[in-house]
Amino acid sequence: MRAVAVNAFGADPQLMELPQPEPGSGEVLVRLAAAGLNPVDWKLADGAFGDAVQAAFPLVLGTDGAGEVVAVGSGVRRFTVGDPVFGQFQRPDRGGGSYAEFAVAEEGAIALAARSVTYATSAAVPTAGMTAYNLVEETRIGEGRRVLIVGATGGVGTFATQLAAGRGAEVIATARPSKAELMRTLGAAETVDHTAGPVADQVLAAHPDGVDVLIDMTSDAAGFVELTRTVRDGGVAVSLIGSADADVLTEHNLRGFNFVNRPSPQLLEILAGHLDAGRLTVLVGLEVPLEGAPQALAASRTGRAQGKTVLAI
Ligand SMILES: NC(=O)c1ccc[n+]([C@@H]2O[C@H](COP(=O)([O-])OP(=O)(O)OC[C@H]3O[C@@H](n4cnc5c(N)ncnc54)[C@H](OP(=O)(O)O)[C@@H]3O)[C@@H](O)[C@H]2O)c1
Repeated sequence: MRAVAVNAFGADPQLMELPQPEPGSGEVLVRLAAAGLNPVDWKLADGAFGDAVQAAFPLVLGTDGAGEVVAVGSGVRRFTVGDPVFGQFQRPDRGGGSYAEFAVAEEGAIALAARSVTYATSAAVPTAGMTAYNLVEETRIGEGRRVLIVGATGGVGTFATQLAAGRGAEVIATARPSKAELMRTLGAAETVDHTAGPVADQVLAAHPDGVDVLIDMTSDAAGFVELTRTVRDGGVAVSLIGSADADVLTEHNLRGFNFVNRPSPQLLEILAGHLDAGRLTVLVGLEVPLEGAPQALAASRTGRAQGKTVLAI
C-alpha cells in the first residue's frame, strides 16, 4: 500500500510502498479515504516525545483518519465490514499511522462516522475536536463565563470557540483581521489581533476585570505567564503545549494545568452527533493528495495553518 512514513525520528517524510497491516485481536482494519493533519504528526516524526514513545520504523505518520472498515480482528463487537468510521489510528509501536491507504485502529479509538458529512470532513475532526471538547469540559466553560482563546483560528481553536460559545460563554478569540469575521461566525463575541500588539494589553483594555478562563495553544512559558495577567483572581489558565507552571499559577491565585487529551469513543460519537445536527462547522482549509503530505507537514510547522489540512487518499 502507499503510505507517507519516516525511516527514523528526524528523517524527512516520504511516500513509500509498505505492506498492508493486519488487524489483531480487538482491532479493525480501515481503508482510509482521508487523513487529517495535526501538529502532533510532525512532532512525533521529530521524536519530540523522547522515550515516552516507542516507535517501529518505517513509521507511518498521521493520527486522524476516516474510511470504511474492511476487516475486523477477533473479539471486535462494535464494528462490521462496510461500516463508515473515523477516529485515531496512530500506533507508533506498530509502525503507525493514518497517512496510508490502510490502517489498523483499536476498536476503542474509532466510532461510526457522521452520516451527513464527507470522509474528508470527518478526518479533520478526531484529535482537534476531542481536545476542544475536553478543554471546555475540564475548564467548566458555560453560561456567563468569559473565555480568552489564544490560537483560536487553528484546528483546536475553531472547535473550542464553537463549543464554548454553544455553552453560552463569551468567547474572545485571537485572529488576524482577515479571520475576524470568520471567528465571529463561529460564535466569538470579540476578536483580538495577535499581530497588532500584546494580546494581554488589548484584552485588559477592553475588559479591566479580566477573563474567567484562558486557553492558550501557542505561548512559551514566559508568554503564558504574561497572558495570565488577563485571568481574574480564582480563574483558570490552561496551556496546550506544556507552558503552565503550577507554582507560578498558585502565586497568582489561579487554577491551571498543562492540558493532556483524553480521547474516547464516546467523545467521537458526541462529535459525530454534533456534525449530523449541524452544530459543528469544520473548516478544511487545504485538501491535498497523500503524496502532498511532506509539504503539508512543512506548512503546519510554520504555525500558520489556515483551517484543517486533509489528505485525500
Ligand atoms: N496537549 C494536547 O493534548 C494537545 C492536543 C491538541 C493540540 N495540541 C497542540 O496545540 C497546538 C495547536 O494545535 P492546532 O491543531 O490547533 O494547530 P494549528 O491548526 O496548526 O493552528 C495554529 C493556529 O495558531 C495561530 N497562531 C500562531 N501563533 C499565534 C499567536 N502567537 N497568537 C495567536 N494565535 C497564533 C495560527 O493563526 P495565524 O496563522 O493567523 O497566526 C493558527 O491558526 C499545537 O501545538 C498542538 O500540538 C496539544
